[in-house]
Order: sequence, then structure tokens, then C-alpha cells
Amino acid sequence: MEDPTVVAACVAGGVVAATGCYMAYQKSAGVTRDASGGTGAAFEGQLAAGVNMLSNGDSVLAREKVENSMDEYAALFEGQTGKHSANGLTDEKGAVTSAESIKKRQEGYRTMVNNFYDLVTDFYEYGWCQSFHFAPRWQGETFLESIKRAEYHLCSRLGMKPGVKALDVGCGVGGPMRNMAIFSGASIEGITINEYQVKVGNKYHAQQGVADIAHTTRGDFQNLPGFTNGELWEGIDYGDMDWTGKFDVAYEIEATCHSPDKTRCFSEVARCLKPGGLFAGYEWVVLPDRGYDGANPTHVAIKEGIEIGNGLPTLATPEKVVAALEAAGFEVLEHYDANRNVHSPVEIPWYDTLNGKFTLSGFRMTNLGRNCTHAMVTALETLRIAPKGTTHVSAMLNATALDLVEGGKQELFTPSYFFVARKK
Ligand SMILES: C[S@@+](CC[C@H](N)C(=O)[O-])C[C@H]1O[C@@H](n2cnc3c(N)ncnc32)[C@H](O)[C@@H]1O
Repeated sequence: MEDPTVVAACVAGGVVAATGCYMAYQKSAGVTRDASGGTGAAFEGQLAAGVNMLSNGDSVLAREKVENSMDEYAALFEGQTGKHSANGLTDEKGAVTSAESIKKRQEGYRTMVNNFYDLVTDFYEYGWCQSFHFAPRWQGETFLESIKRAEYHLCSRLGMKPGVKALDVGCGVGGPMRNMAIFSGASIEGITINEYQVKVGNKYHAQQGVADIAHTTRGDFQNLPGFTNGELWEGIDYGDMDWTGKFDVAYEIEATCHSPDKTRCFSEVARCLKPGGLFAGYEWVVLPDRGYDGANPTHVAIKEGIEIGNGLPTLATPEKVVAALEAAGFEVLEHYDANRNVHSPVEIPWYDTLNGKFTLSGFRMTNLGRNCTHAMVTALETLRIAPKGTTHVSAMLNATALDLVEGGKQELFTPSYFFVARKK
């Protein structure tokens, strides 16, 4: 049940009201930072939660570097971060889609992705859950049930069970890995380029008692351990690790959308699989078949808004994803948009959580919840509790949420283009 006084306080807005509302809301809802099976112990009280999120002891990014890091990131997106494109706030529609702009992000992908996840990982965990992805959702299903069902779908399609060795390509803080390891009993090795995610991911594996079957390594999925043609990035050290032919199966969940060259990335995955090994995933793509038109400025603005707020070089089409899989040596067995029935009466659209009605369980994800978070973050930055630059990060995430909703409503975009492929 919603508490109308809490809602009223939130709507009244203002920094003090917002933070106060958070505390009251927290008290009434019993909300903790207990995501997809998280520890739940860390976050007590909404304001305390915000302070905790913004002064995290595990953080690898020094406080004074946040603003710099955000500026470095924004420069890769023509200074458009924090502006919602679809309501006309961006001034240069199409600038992010120019060949020169895309090339800049492809060449700087490691800095782009690493900075992005240094800045947003805590926001994601705080506002979403430990699984950083969307999912098709049926009526009657809770948000977290739908998230886990998307993950278990991969387990079933890949035949994951005890004894199977799986590779999680771009694993985040490991929410999916832990759920999938517990569900299937398979052993999962995850890789992420972001040091902070490795640190907290391995901590969560241990806390949740799955460290024997779930482990996270820091690395670049463009150059997996044992690569021969390329170079390692700062801070990554594979030692004498070589993953060639090591895994029975591999999967990626909304991660290879960050790749500057999907053929290269998928080729590296293929190298690390045994012959005949399966690779499945959910890709972010624009949907020309459903009406996305690269000559339509509104469509381009929505696409760019999604790229700007999510650290993407550029969004691909399904055709390009399939072509990259084939070029990397896979036989594509199946591919379709898992959200193809997004507006069927039996489904809850994947973007609805962001659009959201006010529900206690999903409050932080909704528009109102995000505005409260933004007010809180602004207050905390003004009070110098949160590092300088944090408000910019929050504004960027708010803006892109609106673009994601717009892309979903108009069926121009899906975050769940599902594929299963076999290494030839
Ligand atoms: C949207 S998150 C998804 C994380 C995870 N699959 C999940 O669903 O929770 C994307 C992930 O891809 C990782 N990633 C992006 N580019 C990468 C790269 N070049 N090498 C390794 N990881 C990368 C990011 O660090 C992040 O963990």
C-alpha cells in the first residue's frame, strides 16, 4: 500500500522535502539495498542510503576525480550529457551519430566504459538491483521475478548445470552470475573492465556463499586472456592466464552493446569456447523493422540520448549483431527481440519500471523516485558530502531514462535482442 503522506511530501519537492520524504518513505516501506539477493545490511534509511552510496568505502575513484572523470566522459559525447534529447533539450541532434564522434568513442572505449561504470555503478545498484539489465515482464510477475526469469532463460538455453564452465562477458557486479550459479550449479567466470565492479562483485560472491562457483576477473572483452593480437590496458594484468578453449558456454547480458567492434569481441568469445560451444545473449539494438528511421531527427535524438547516458559507441541493428556473430565464426541458431510483444495486454513493457507508477518496491526506479534521488544528490553535493560532479551523473541517468522510455514506447529500440549461436 502506498502511503499518501509520503507521496505528497515527495511531490512537494525541494531538497529538504525530498530527503525528508526519503527517510519517511524508507521507514514506511522497509526498503533496504537488498537487490537481487544482495546483503541488505548496508543501507538503512533513505538519506543514510544516499550518503552511503556516495561515500562508498570500496570506491576506487578518488572523490576529487569524480568531476574530472565525468567531464572526460562528457567530452566523448559532444557535451550532451545530462540533457534529455526527446524534449528538445539537446542542441545538436545528430552530432553524436557523426562518423567522427563514433570513432572517438570506439578508440576511447576503455576510458569511456571504465569512467562510466566508476560513476554509475552505485547509482545502478541503489536504484535498480545487482543485475544491471532489463527484461520482458508478464502481468503478475514482479520486477525481480522478470529479471531472474531472463537470466534462467539463458541457463536453460545454454544447458547450464553442475560441471558446466560458463563465461559471463561483461558481468557487472555479478547479480546475474550469482543468480545463475545458484539456479544451475554451473561454474561461472565473469569479466568486467571496471576495477570497482571486480572488487565488490567478488565480495558479494563470498558474502552469498557462491565464491566456489562464481568469480570475477578484471579484463577487456575485446582482448580476453590469452589474446595474441592487441594490447592490454592500464591496470589489467592477466599474468599467464589463457582462456583459449576453456569454456563450455558463454553469455552476455546487455554488455557487448559497449563494444567498439563486435566482430572482434565475439571472435574473442569464440576463441575461449570449446568447439561446438554455445553463446547466448541479450543485445541493445535499434529496430528498423519496427520503424526506427535513421533519417528521422526525433528517432536519432532518442537513439543518441540512449547512447549518451549508457556509455555506448553507437547502437547497432539486429542485422549487424547477427553479421558480427557470423563473421566471428558462429552459426546463429536463433535470434529475436524478447520484447517483441512489449505492448501485448499480457505483458508489462520492459520500460514501465522506469516510467513507473508509484509502488513501494520499485520507488527508486520511477520518475518520481529518480527526481527525489536527484534532489538528494544535489543537496549532498552542495553540502560537500557527495563529490563534485555527482549531480551531473544523476542528471545524465535521469535524462537517459526518459529516452529509454520513449524508445520503448515507440518500439524504436529494445534492450533484449536475444540470440543463441554455436561455435563452428
Ligand atoms: C549494463 S552492464 C551489464 C552487466 C551484467 N551483464 C548485468 O546484467 O548485470 C555492462 C557491463 O559490461 C562491461 N563492459 C563493457 N565494456 C567492456 C569491455 N570492453 N571489457 C569488459 N567488460 C566490459 C561493463 O564493465 C559492465 O560490467
